[in-house]
Amino acid sequence: MEQKEYRGLYAEWYERVSGAKDHSEEIDFWARSIEKAGEPALELGSGTGRVLVPLLEQGFSVVGIDTSQDMMARCLATCEARGLKAELHEQSMLEFDLPREFGLIFLGSGGLGLFTEDRDIHSTFERVMLHLKPGGSFVYEFEPVPDAYEDDDRWTGDWICGPDDVVIAWRKRMKHDPATNVWQWLFIVKKFVGDRLVETEANERWGRTFTLDEALQYAKAAGFEDIRATNWLTDDPPGKDSGVIAVQCKKPVEEPN
Ligand SMILES: C[S@@+](CC[C@H](N)C(=O)[O-])C[C@H]1O[C@@H](n2cnc3c(N)ncnc32)[C@H](O)[C@@H]1O
Repeated sequence: MEQKEYRGLYAEWYERVSGAKDHSEEIDFWARSIEKAGEPALELGSGTGRVLVPLLEQGFSVVGIDTSQDMMARCLATCEARGLKAELHEQSMLEFDLPREFGLIFLGSGGLGLFTEDRDIHSTFERVMLHLKPGGSFVYEFEPVPDAYEDDDRWTGDWICGPDDVVIAWRKRMKHDPATNVWQWLFIVKKFVGDRLVETEANERWGRTFTLDEALQYAKAAGFEDIRATNWLTDDPPGKDSGVIAVQCKKPVEEPN
């Protein structure tokens, strides 16, 4: 089935919901990562610019790629409104091809879980390796396999009110396959202006959780070195309660013979 997500109303939902939260801890983490690894940086799946825009505002050189025109259009509109120059490319991380090398490439927001197939992860990691400077860093995040998939048998949801008389309500249901740790969700978004329903959108997506060993293995298989896992936004090792884990690794300085 075709993946149907990150389109019009979902992009609006994403921007409104993320705009209502404080992401400063996350932005600080990526700012520190760029300072350590060097510029320019590349964000894989940069979306509405939730992370990319504040990094540009801090003066970092960050490029974004994404496959969703609707998400990218929101990022570009924000940059224009704030007088920032964004370099965005509508390209898939599975096969991106950019005419430059990066000090840091990152896949945040648990982005490894966008992939259900190992072959897509291998392709992405190959592209990352090709686009990193020697000694450059790759950081990718994933959600680990939980002890139990607790929400599988119920709908969950919420709503957000905008200052413009807009209410966006959503509900979602997830189903996991414990044999593969692949999940499927149906995410229904409704937009009301005043008391009038103006738009409804159904988003279907598949994703995946990983064991720590699985997640580390992708970096090893692609030839990265100095591979280590850390608890989300920290330099501490992951614990049993880690909801998101980051893997940090480096491109070897010397090409292997
Ligand atoms: C959860 S959003 C994260 C957006 C942003 N990184 C953030 O932290 O707010 C995931 C993004 O990845 C993009 N995406 C999904 N598959 C992709 C692919 N194969 N190549 C590039 N971008 C992709 C989606 O369009 C979406 O904008």
